[in-house]
Amino acid sequence: MKRRELLLRGASTGAVATLLPAFAPSSFAAETPFGPGMPDGLPMPAPLAGPSPRLPETDPSRTLLERGWRFHEGEVSVPEPADHNATYLSVKAGNARGSAALAFDDSDWPTVDLPHDWAIAQDVSETANVSQGYRPRGIGWYRRLLRLDESQKGRRLELHFDGIATHATIWINGSEVAHSWSGYSSVIVDLTPFARFGDELNWIAVRVDAQAREGWWYEGAGLYRHVWLVSRPALSIETDGVHCDPVRQPDGTWQVPVEVRLTNVGEEAGQAEISARLLDPEGREIHRSGGAATVGPLEQAQVTTALIPGPVKLWSPDAPVLYCVEVDLLREGKVVDTRRQFIGFRTVVFDPARGMILNGVETKLKGVCIHQDHSGVGTAIPDALALWRLQRLKAMGCNAIRMSHNAPAKEVLDWCDRLGFLVMGENRLFNPAPDYLAQLEWMVRRDRNHPSIVLWSVFNEEPMQGTHAGVEMVRRMRKAVRALDTQRPVTAAMNGSFYNPENVSTVVDVMGFNYYQGDYDKFHALHPDKPITSSEDTSAYETRGAFESIQAQQVITSLDKESASWGATHRDSWKMIAERPFVAGGFVWTGFDYHGEPTPYAWPSTSSFFGIMDLCGFPKTAFGIHSAHWRDDAPMIWLAPHWTWPGRECQTLEVFAITNAEAIELRLNGEVIERVPAADRIMGHSFKVPYRPGRIEALALRGGKVVASAVHETAGAPVALRLTPARQAIASDGEDVQAITVDCVDSRGRHVPTANLPVEFAITGGRIIGLGNGNPNDHDSEKGNKRALFNGLAQVIVEGDDSGSRLTLTATTGGLRPARLSLARAPREPRAQVPPVPAEMPITDWRRSALFAQQPDPALAPVDGDNNSWDFVRSGVAAAAGNSGWRSYRTRFTPWKKIAAQGGTLHFAQITGAAEVWLDGKLVARKADTAAASLTATIPPGTGPRTLAVLIEAKDSAPSGITGRVYVSG
Ligand code: GAL
Repeated sequence: MKRRELLLRGASTGAVATLLPAFAPSSFAAETPFGPGMPDGLPMPAPLAGPSPRLPETDPSRTLLERGWRFHEGEVSVPEPADHNATYLSVKAGNARGSAALAFDDSDWPTVDLPHDWAIAQDVSETANVSQGYRPRGIGWYRRLLRLDESQKGRRLELHFDGIATHATIWINGSEVAHSWSGYSSVIVDLTPFARFGDELNWIAVRVDAQAREGWWYEGAGLYRHVWLVSRPALSIETDGVHCDPVRQPDGTWQVPVEVRLTNVGEEAGQAEISARLLDPEGREIHRSGGAATVGPLEQAQVTTALIPGPVKLWSPDAPVLYCVEVDLLREGKVVDTRRQFIGFRTVVFDPARGMILNGVETKLKGVCIHQDHSGVGTAIPDALALWRLQRLKAMGCNAIRMSHNAPAKEVLDWCDRLGFLVMGENRLFNPAPDYLAQLEWMVRRDRNHPSIVLWSVFNEEPMQGTHAGVEMVRRMRKAVRALDTQRPVTAAMNGSFYNPENVSTVVDVMGFNYYQGDYDKFHALHPDKPITSSEDTSAYETRGAFESIQAQQVITSLDKESASWGATHRDSWKMIAERPFVAGGFVWTGFDYHGEPTPYAWPSTSSFFGIMDLCGFPKTAFGIHSAHWRDDAPMIWLAPHWTWPGRECQTLEVFAITNAEAIELRLNGEVIERVPAADRIMGHSFKVPYRPGRIEALALRGGKVVASAVHETAGAPVALRLTPARQAIASDGEDVQAITVDCVDSRGRHVPTANLPVEFAITGGRIIGLGNGNPNDHDSEKGNKRALFNGLAQVIVEGDDSGSRLTLTATTGGLRPARLSLARAPREPRAQVPPVPAEMPITDWRRSALFAQQPDPALAPVDGDNNSWDFVRSGVAAAAGNSGWRSYRTRFTPWKKIAAQGGTLHFAQITGAAEVWLDGKLVARKADTAAASLTATIPPGTGPRTLAVLIEAKDSAPSGITGRVYVSG
C-alpha cells in the first residue's frame, strides 16, 4: 500500500502543525485481499505488502499512557481505620485508603502494558459463567505514577480511559474522581483540579469490577482499550467537542456545519478564535471559515460556522473518500489547540418500500454483527488487529456492521470510515435514567461525525419492547439522540411484540427485526410507511474445518445445515432479505466467533459457533456463501469440503459449491462430474461425489468461460510446519501486530487440512501476544507459546518491538521440519508514551504543632480525636513566618514491604530552619544550619508503622518548615 505524508499547516501562522499520514482511501480499500485463499489450499489470503497502516492522529494533545501500570488481580482489602482520628481522616479529600491511597505499597505488583484484558489469561473453569466463556473475571486494581512537569500548571489536563471492563472507580491522588458504570463508554477524567506538578508525583488508582456484567458474551476485564493523558491549554476545545457532519442542501449542494464547544479552566475570561478548514482527500484546503467566542472562567461556550465544499466526491463502501475538517483554536493569532475529524459526503435514506438508499442508489446492507474480542487477546485488541479483522470482512464483500451490542473502540469506526462500512451504532443499556442516558449521549457525541455510521440503535431485544414503559423509554432515548444528531435515524432491535397495542416500533424511525423473518411481509403490509431492516438474523452454527456434525464431541458441520431455532441457515436467511426490496438489509449473527455464548452447547465448549469466521478469523464455509451473496467486484467460487479423507475411499461425500458467476462445473481428477448451467447464487449447489483421492475442482463460468476456480487436493502425511504472515513487514513502532497463520504441509507443499499437531513457538524482535486455533472446545491457554493446530490451522499474534531488527518466529513440532518466518521491519517512529516513573514511597501528610518557645519533646503528639490543635499540613508547605520558637511535625507511615525487609533512605528534599529528625523515638538526623537544605536519614529494616517527628526551629520572622517533598527510597 502506498502511504503519503500530508503536510497540514497551522491555520494562520503557516507553521507546520504536524505531519499527518494519510492513505488515499481508494488505494487503501484496494489493498483488501479478495479470493478464497492461496493456491495450495490454505484458506487465507496472501500476505499484504508493508506493515499495517496506522491511523492519523486526530487530537494532537493526547499522549498514550499505556506503559508501566502496576496491576493486581483480585480485591485488596482495606482494614478498618484504627481509631477515631484515622476514621475522621479517612473521609477527607485526598485520603483514600487501601490500594487507592497515595502511599500504598504496590511495589510487588507486576507491571503491565495496556491494552490489557486479564480475563483472557485465565484458565477456563466449568464453574465460571457460561455466557462469559467460563473465564473467571473478578476484581482487579491498576496503579500508575504520573509526573507532570511544572509547565503543565494552568493547563487543562484530562485522563481518557477509552474502555474499562466493566465497572470502575478511579482515584487521583487519593481523591475519588470517577465512577464508570459502562464497560463500553470512555471515562473522561478532568485531572486539572487534582494535579500536582514537578517532583510532587501523581497517583492514579483504578479499581475494576469485572464481576459486573453488561452482556451475555465475553466482555473481558480491565483497561482493555487505550488510555491517554491529555494536556490542552486552559481555554481549549472540549473533548468530542467538534460536530461537523456534512449536510446535503435541498438544491443538491453540500454544507458542513461546524459546531465547536469550548471550555475554560483558567482564572480569567478568554477570547478564542476558531478557524475551521476543510481539506480534500489530497490534503488541499478547499474552504476555510471561523468564528470567535469569549469564554468565562470555568465556563463553556460554542462557536458555530459552516464550510462550503463545492462539488465533492461522495463516500460509499466502494469508494470511501474522506475529507478532513481541521479545527484550530487560536489565541492572539497563535494556534494553541487542534482537532481533526475525517468526514465523508453521502446521503442515506431508509425508505419503507425501497430499503436503504445510499447516494440515491438502493443499497442492501450486507452486514454482520460483531462483538469485540479475538482469540489470544480477548478484548484487548491492538489497532492493527482491529483493522485486520475488518479487512477479513471486507474481503467477503460485507459492507455493513452492527456494533452489537455496544459502542466500539473509536479506532474501529475510524477504520470503518476508511474501509467503507455502513455501521449501526448500538447503545448498551436500555435505560433513559440520567446515568444511562449519559452513556447514549456520549456515544452519539463521539461518533456522529463518522460517515460510516448510518443508524443508531437504542437497544437490542428488550423484554419491555412491547409495553407502555418500553415505549416511554424509547421516546426519551430517541429524543436524546435526535438532539445531538438530526441526520441519522433511530432504530431498536426488536425480537417480538411487534403487534402489541403499545410497542416501540411505533416510536423508532426504522423498524429493526431480530430474527422473525417470517414476519417481514405481515409487518410491512400492516405498516407500509415504516422502513424495515433486519437488525440481526441467521444464528447458524458451524465448526470451522468440520464437515460432519458429531454431537458427542460438540462439533457442528460447516456445510450450513444447522441453526438456532429462532434463526435460519446463512442461505435461507439471506434469501428472505435479498428477495424483499423493502427490507434494507441484514446483519448476520455473527461475523466472527467470540468467546462465550457457546450455544447450542455448554461446557466443554467455551466460545461461539455462530461466526462466519472462527475466533481467529479463519473462514468457515459461511465465508464462501456470503462471498457469493455479496461480492459483485469479481467472480468467485467456493468449494467445500477439503479433499483429504483417508479411509473414505469410494464412500459418497457431499460436496458444496457456490459462486456469483453463471454456471458451475465440478471436476474430480480432471473428469467432469457435473455441470450446473444456471448456478443459484444464494443457495449454492450440493453434489454427491464418491470419494477418490486426488484433485477436486470447481470452475465458475460466465458466458462459457472459466472466470474463477476453487481446488482442493488430497494431502499426504504432514512433513513440515509453515508460517504465513498477514503482511510482509511489521513496523518498528512497538505497537504493530499481525496474525500469523500456522499450518503444516505434505511432501509436495500442500496444506494438510486434517492436522491437529501440538506446536511450540519461539520469537525474537517482538513478543507473542496471543494464540488460537478456532476450536470452541479447546481449553489450552491462549497465552504463552504453545498451541495445537485444529483442523489444520492455528494462529499466533505477534507484536513487533521498537527495534529495527527483523522479527523471527519459529514453530516446531515433533517429527516435522520446523518453520521459520523472518519478517522485515518497516521503520516507523513509536507513538509518544507518557514515560513510567520509578516508584518512591511518598510521605505527604503531617500534623504540625503550635509554636513552642523551647524545643519540644519528640514524643509530643496530639491526642486521639484532637483534629484541631495541631494543623494538618502537607510536605512542601512552608510554615508561616512568625516569632522565634520550635514546632514539631509528626507523621506515621508503614514502610513498603521491600523497605521493611531491607531498610531504606528517608529523603527530605528541603527543610528550612534548624531541625532534628526522630524516628520511633531515636534521633536519626540533624541539621544545624537554618538555611533551606536537603536532609537524609537511614531507615533500618523493620515492619509495622513508624513514627516520625521533625522538630524545626523558626528564627525571628524567617519562614521554616518541611518545604520540599519527603519520600523513602528502598
Ligand atoms: C440474539 C442476541 C444475540 C445473541 C444471539 C444468539 O437473540 O441478540 O446477542 O445472543 O441471539 O443467537
